[in-house]
Amino acid sequence: MTDGYRGVTALVTGASKGLGRAYALELARRGARVILLARSDGSLRELAAEIRERHGGPDAEVITGDLAAPDGPERVLRELRDRGLTVDLLLNNAGAGSVGPFLGRPLEPQVRSVGLNVVGLIVMTHAIGAELVARGSGGIINVSSTAAFQPMPYQASYAATKAFVLSFTEALAEELRGTGVHVMAAHPGAVATGFFDGTSATIDSRAADTPAIVAARTLDDYARRRAASYPGRAMNRALTWPPRLLPRTVVARVTGNLNRRRRMHEVVDLA
Ligand SMILES: NC(=O)c1ccc[n+]([C@@H]2O[C@H](COP(=O)([O-])OP(=O)(O)OC[C@H]3O[C@@H](n4cnc5c(N)ncnc54)[C@H](OP(=O)(O)O)[C@@H]3O)[C@@H](O)[C@H]2O)c1
Repeated sequence: MTDGYRGVTALVTGASKGLGRAYALELARRGARVILLARSDGSLRELAAEIRERHGGPDAEVITGDLAAPDGPERVLRELRDRGLTVDLLLNNAGAGSVGPFLGRPLEPQVRSVGLNVVGLIVMTHAIGAELVARGSGGIINVSSTAAFQPMPYQASYAATKAFVLSFTEALAEELRGTGVHVMAAHPGAVATGFFDGTSATIDSRAADTPAIVAARTLDDYARRRAASYPGRAMNRALTWPPRLLPRTVVARVTGNLNRRRRMHEVVDLA
């Protein structure tokens, strides 16, 4: 399905690599004009050139910014205004998270990831959401995770940020029902990206979906006006159901055991 993206201007946060890069490429393939946002200016410019080469169409815009910095989201919003860019689809994809025992890992990256995954996301949503409602069209996709559905020992602060994104997005979707603005959460399972780069943790490639497939399915679900997207393999979605039914202490115990089996309690940074 490609319907609904031609002529749309989409702001993709975290577009320099991984899933965000795949979202930007897929949006451009479907005819959208993309605004690429991340901290790595060089990677964004290379992607903009690749989009021009592969898909032609309107030039991709590049905005370099740090959404975890205290004034980062405001600076990005100011740049959008100064450049006269109007966003029809906000794709809040940028995200980060620590892995390993909460008390045994440095605090600063965890605080920064809460700033990015939670504060950056709601500041962008507040400003752009108001513009969308005023125009009565467009939408927001918030990238959450299957990690949102249960507490996750050894990814404690990360899973908590994704639970925030899940709850926030469901509530906002209901508030905006009938305004013409569609709000959807996407819940990928494991995706083959560099999410754990710099640590001894790895993503099992046999259990991971490709960024391209996850991006395409998310955009199909948004085009169908779904409330939520589970863009990975079917098992990922099925595994979100037991945590909704079982006592939370049991869920935390089971998840902790699984993550210990994956040696996540022993994760270290790589030099
Ligand atoms: N990989 C998975 O298994 C998985 C599963 C479920 C959900 N997700 C979610 O999918 C999203 C993308 O993850 P990914 O796997 O693609 O991760 P990734 O490969 O590490 O990419 C993260 C992206 O976010 C950007 N970013 C990081 N910090 C930023 C900041 N302070 N300000 C602006 N941009 C920032 C990075 O660019 P710069 O470094 O250039 O800023 C990069 O473009 C995240 O929300 C993640 O939680 C991932």
